[in-house]
Amino acid sequence: MTKIETSRLILRPCMEEDRELFYELSSDPAVLEFFPFRRSRKDADAIFTMIRNVTPEPGFELLVMVLKHSGEAIGFCGLSKLQLPPLLPQDAVEIGWRISARHWNNGHATESGVALLHHAFTRLEIDEILSIAVRDNRRARAAMAKIGMRRDPACDFDHPHIPETHPHLKRHVVYRLGAAEWRVQQDGRRTR
Ligand SMILES: CC(C)(COP(=O)(O)OP(=O)(O)OC[C@H]1O[C@@H](n2cnc3c(N)ncnc32)[C@H](O)[C@@H]1OP(=O)(O)O)[C@@H](O)C(=O)NCCC(=O)NCCS
Repeated sequence: MTKIETSRLILRPCMEEDRELFYELSSDPAVLEFFPFRRSRKDADAIFTMIRNVTPEPGFELLVMVLKHSGEAIGFCGLSKLQLPPLLPQDAVEIGWRISARHWNNGHATESGVALLHHAFTRLEIDEILSIAVRDNRRARAAMAKIGMRRDPACDFDHPHIPETHPHLKRHVVYRLGAAEWRVQQDGRRTR
């Protein structure tokens, strides 16, 4: 079971008590500005139940971000495997977040992202981490860049799962970071 601690956060697997937060972040138009859906209570509940009933591969749990100082759960993050061949390699590992809007711009995506990269490259020994975002999702792109990921413009793509009713959400950008480059970044930080 994955449990990660950072200076301000605990990242822990999802529990039954997180159902309400899951609904909030699956239905809030601000959080979903760059997603083509708004889930009803019934749909969000069904997806949450499915997530809770599946035993995830170790390291690939949906993690809840909990503020240490208050115990408040503020969002979800984690590693998952992308299924977008031939656009991206099958099972490419993605890092992603969904955080309650009232907690944005406090560095929580960055802080959890740094910890997830460390976990992925050291514990899970993954070779490369990707992150994808709608081209216009500046907040997400800023967080990806801040954790040392680099955009690969050659990988820009039109997401096949975005319906034609949402053409402005089609274009996606890809950020990536390999284990070797991550180690160089870590060494750079240590000698600074
Ligand atoms: C994207 C998201 C995860 C970022 O979370 P966060 O905790 O606010 O991120 P951080 O505070 O670590 O970093 C955000 C950065 O974006 C910057 N930013 C905010 N709005 C911006 C904008 N419109 N344009 C450019 N940069 C912006 C912030 O200034 C901050 O950088 P700074 O710390 O250097 O000032 C959060 O907004 C979210 O959950 N969005 C909805 C879901 C989503 O889009 N997920 C991403 C898909 S993986």
